[in-house]
Amino acid sequence: MRVMTDNQKAWRLAKPLMWAQWRKASAGFALSLLSVAASLYQPWPIQVLVDSILTDKSPLPRWLSVWTTDKTAALPVVCGLLLLVYFARHGLNAWGTLYLVRAGLEMTHDLRCRLYDHMQKLSLLFHERRPVGDTSYRVTWDTYSIQTIFNSGVVPLVNAVAMLAGMLVVMWQFDRMLTLLASAVAPALWWTIKFYGNRIGASSVLYHEREGKLNALIQETLTAIRTVQAFVREDDERRRFEEGTNKSVEANQQMTRQQVMVGFAASMITAAGTVAIVWVGGQRVLAGRLSVGELLVFITYVGMFYGPMTQISGLATAVQGAMAPFRRVVEILGTNPVIRDSVHARPLTQCRGEVRYEQVWFGYDPEKPVLKGVDLEAHPGELVALIGPTGSGKSTLLSLLLRFYDPQKGRVLVDGTDIREYQYRSLRRQISILPQEPVLFSSSVAENIAYGRPDASREQIIEAAKQAEAHEFILAMPQGYDTPLQERGGNLSGGQRQRLALARAFLKNSPILILDEPTTALDAETEAAVLQALRRLRVGRTVLVVAHRLSTIRDATRVLLLDEGVIAEQGTHAELAARGGRYARLVELQFGTTS
Ligand SMILES: Nc1ncnc2c1ncn2[C@@H]1O[C@H](COP(=O)(O)OP(=O)(O)OP(=O)(O)O)[C@@H](O)[C@H]1O
Ligand SMILES: [Mg+2]
Repeated sequence: MRVMTDNQKAWRLAKPLMWAQWRKASAGFALSLLSVAASLYQPWPIQVLVDSILTDKSPLPRWLSVWTTDKTAALPVVCGLLLLVYFARHGLNAWGTLYLVRAGLEMTHDLRCRLYDHMQKLSLLFHERRPVGDTSYRVTWDTYSIQTIFNSGVVPLVNAVAMLAGMLVVMWQFDRMLTLLASAVAPALWWTIKFYGNRIGASSVLYHEREGKLNALIQETLTAIRTVQAFVREDDERRRFEEGTNKSVEANQQMTRQQVMVGFAASMITAAGTVAIVWVGGQRVLAGRLSVGELLVFITYVGMFYGPMTQISGLATAVQGAMAPFRRVVEILGTNPVIRDSVHARPLTQCRGEVRYEQVWFGYDPEKPVLKGVDLEAHPGELVALIGPTGSGKSTLLSLLLRFYDPQKGRVLVDGTDIREYQYRSLRRQISILPQEPVLFSSSVAENIAYGRPDASREQIIEAAKQAEAHEFILAMPQGYDTPLQERGGNLSGGQRQRLALARAFLKNSPILILDEPTTALDAETEAAVLQALRRLRVGRTVLVVAHRLSTIRDATRVLLLDEGVIAEQGTHAELAARGGRYARLVELQFGTTS
């Protein structure tokens, strides 16, 4: 198989995005090309002005003498003509630009939506390894690169090539020798562009990487602002930030310096060409072989000829600069979700809730397994409590059931089938989860509870809130169930957040319920009420609870002790306590009693 380079991958993605805007783009290009045609006429009035009005080199052209034979009267006519040509050139160009920019922005829009969509599908392993700030920078800023590539690359390239071609034809007819002379600088220009283009590309990569890092840093500090202030680390955070912006500014400066340099070099090369034309053309005028007006027209043409030439040199660098952020977008789009459906995957409906782990091995780093051959079984109607020292892998074990990760060895089964044979989204619909660190969104209380079941009625939402012991405090809020929450539920206490998340898990009403330390932030009384609700809820459901509290453990039909990556002991609390093994010691240590 042929291996595609990064640039090839980038183009493969960019092309259809550009094609999708072909209507707007063609309208824009058509107008721009008309503008180019108009600009080819720009030098003519000058020649008439110089040769027929200001000097007596040639008689007034026929179209003008029809109008007037008086030179003083002819002057404003020629000026008006000049104005008309300018108007046509710039007016058409502006009109076309509106279309083309619109097309470019639509490309950014399409790319953003695609990227956002794709990112949501990528597995946790992907997201956990990347700073959120960097990823969000790619969505908000790096996606503009497609517009830059189009509007500052493709569009000017088409215009410049059209202009160059038009100019060459006109100049060739005018004076072949001078045209060849003017074109002689092309190789030097080409080499300069190539030389700087690569360098600018490299500094652009650096610049965007550093901007992404900076964004990640801001995001991290702002998210943790409470901790930053509590530990009085503002000054250190500022220093870290300053270092970050400094590096970004440095990279930007380097990139800009190279852009300025290439601009300067290109200008000097074309200046040399113009000077050569003035010299050779001047000699011809002196020898009487060329009129002053003709020389002026030719010099204007040369200026217009070099315009697109230097423009093309700028283009290469602009595109090189935009390729770096574009590749950052392509990189994410090119990452395949690790968790995805196999071709034969089928939807899981009518789930009974039989859960089984068979010799499951898993490590975030495959070299360092967290779970080393876990066997576990949970049936509908059961409340299985999972206990074990911190860091022993309890949360990890639960996340495998949702297929946040796939085990490296062994398998997880639901209703007797390996969960990899189900469509993973349908599997997740059958599972309610209360994560260890629940997350709330900046929407209303009711919307937060209904996150797993957006079509739930208000009555159902209230019912779930009551079971989670959240109803009372919600009613006490300013707008009750319609009270808007701040980002991540910042306007709630820890226990209130936990109960809302619990209500969310209860409302989803699925055959499998997973609760990761559901009562840690609750007082004893509230906990008792929540446990009471769980007793009702577990009828006909499989409930898996990670617990640190004796009250929850006592309630369980079965208790599993996870230690060093395996289920070390299991049974009811009473059985395990009586056995006097590791469980008994752990409970003794933690609660001072085993009864
Ligand atoms: N996203 C992750 N990436 C890499 N390693 C992880 C990740 N999450 C957890 N770990 C590691 O895996 C091990 C098990 O973590 P896990 O969160 O499952 O423990 P736990 O039993 O739930 O602990 P606790 O009781 O403190 O919640 C720990 O050593 C932890 O450092
Ligand atoms: Mg945990």
